[in-house]
Amino acid sequence: MKFIVKKNYDEVSKAAAEIFIIFLQNNPKAVLGLATGSTPLGLYSELIKAYQEGSIDFSEVRTFNLDEYVGLSAEHENSYSFYMKSNLFNHINIKKENYHIPSGTEKDYAIYCAEYEKMIDSAGGIDLLLLGVGENGHIAFNEPSTRLYSTTHIIDLSEDTIKVNSRFFQSIDEVPKQAITMGIGTIMKAKKIVLLATGRKKTNVINKLINERYITTEFPVSFLRAHRDVTVIVDEEAANFHNDKY
Ligand code: GLP
Repeated sequence: MKFIVKKNYDEVSKAAAEIFIIFLQNNPKAVLGLATGSTPLGLYSELIKAYQEGSIDFSEVRTFNLDEYVGLSAEHENSYSFYMKSNLFNHINIKKENYHIPSGTEKDYAIYCAEYEKMIDSAGGIDLLLLGVGENGHIAFNEPSTRLYSTTHIIDLSEDTIKVNSRFFQSIDEVPKQAITMGIGTIMKAKKIVLLATGRKKTNVINKLINERYITTEFPVSFLRAHRDVTVIVDEEAANFHNDKY
């Protein structure tokens, strides 16, 4: 795992954008895996800027998002579908048929999850995958547990995650209790992974990621230690290795 420490959030976003821009210039037909949350917003603005300046072109790019809340329609302003359109897709020349965000309103998730997984495989797998990380070590919505699913599945969100993510909703009761998410195996099959973490809230998780050596389902981000091409970009706050909470 390669760790890069940047001064602040803007520098993290720029460093991540540089990786994505160079990758897209060299691989105009790339298959990207995309994340939501507050962390990737700066990167997405940088990518929009690069597109507007003509440095990158999304006309042949395909994307697969990591996850979505179960119960929220694509039009709901807290859905990840809405997030992706407002923060990236509406501002670049990606084709509608080329981006994929898991649906939050399926009747039969057993079938749908298998189809989503198959779509990723049929696209040739993910070339470059963007990840954030939850304060409890979750990646996508793979929550700490005694067992983790390998492929795309439905998950019950943990109390912690519901509480942390309630900041985006009017009240905690509005936060969905379940999500559809790529599995750990889906993530690990990506050829290249970039994980971003910024701010003091991520210090503990980054400390643990750096200092512990083992892989455990109770700390899902630890699986990335077994991946051959992971770049973790953090700001100085997240990299504060002397935080007393750890
Ligand atoms: C959500 C998403 C994750 C994301 C995490 C961190 O739970 N499902 O994919 O990594 O939040 O979000 P933030 O970047 O807002 O800290």
